[in-house]
Amino acid sequence: MLPAYAKLNLTLDILRKRPDGYHELRMVMQRIALHDDVRVALAPGEGIRCRCGAGLPEDESNLAVRAARAFFAQSGVAPRALEIDVVKRIPACAGMAGGSSDAAATLRALRTLLCPEMDDAALERIGAQVGSDVPYCIRGGTVLAEGRGELLTTLRSAPRLYALVCKPDFAISTPALYARVRVDALRARPDTDGMLRAIAEGDAAGVIARVGNVFEQVLPEAFSQVFAIKRALLAAGAESAAMTGSGSAVFGLFREKAAAEAARQSVQIPGAQVLLTEFV
Ligand code: C5P
Repeated sequence: MLPAYAKLNLTLDILRKRPDGYHELRMVMQRIALHDDVRVALAPGEGIRCRCGAGLPEDESNLAVRAARAFFAQSGVAPRALEIDVVKRIPACAGMAGGSSDAAATLRALRTLLCPEMDDAALERIGAQVGSDVPYCIRGGTVLAEGRGELLTTLRSAPRLYALVCKPDFAISTPALYARVRVDALRARPDTDGMLRAIAEGDAAGVIARVGNVFEQVLPEAFSQVFAIKRALLAAGAESAAMTGSGSAVFGLFREKAAAEAARQSVQIPGAQVLLTEFV
């Protein structure tokens, strides 16, 4: 079993639209303790069998299956029959890289089983073909991600903070949200440089003060509960709050575990899944 950790975006900025249809990003990603467990085993016969439950696809559209296909296509290792089992805990369609993290764990497991000499850079390159967040999930920790999301700079670990994550009962389509972005019309940008400084200095208050995500500026009216959740988290004692990735999960940050636990008890968010976790 390999842990497949979720992430939060401490910052997310979109710099420009690229000719290839992707967007040039600048974002600080943080690994959190919340994780799926992924088991990859060689199997007799042929094909890739994936079980992950939670109503998620188990066919070729599952990112773990796509990661395995990409691994065999790119590594030169002859395709083998596989069993992939995922114990799912990370909410899906949340902006927490749940699917990407399962894909990353699958790639790490296949390297260990079949190609231990492959270096991290090669594994991250395969991951980038599976999804923009997969290279980050292979690396983990506190990272500045640029380009499509695949150009990674590992940072000093951010100060340990507690995150109360609220996943409302709706999903936001990532491509549809990107399509709403007009880079020139964005009103405010997260202070990414200030975030990098705060992380470098181990300044928890500075990190907390600089969370921000430009996707919040282009959310359709139908998803205004995101703002209600932010207000509820702040009212419950979070020191700051933001949406992660393209949503729909929202997190509030706390320096003290007791304050985060008290907020979990008191926060009232109809229909939302509420999870207390921490930076790792
Ligand atoms: O790479 P991934 O498959 O995760 O991306 C999903 C979709 O998100 C892309 O098809 C694209 O519409 C959008 N995207 C983007 N710019 C990025 C990453 C993703 O426009 N840097």
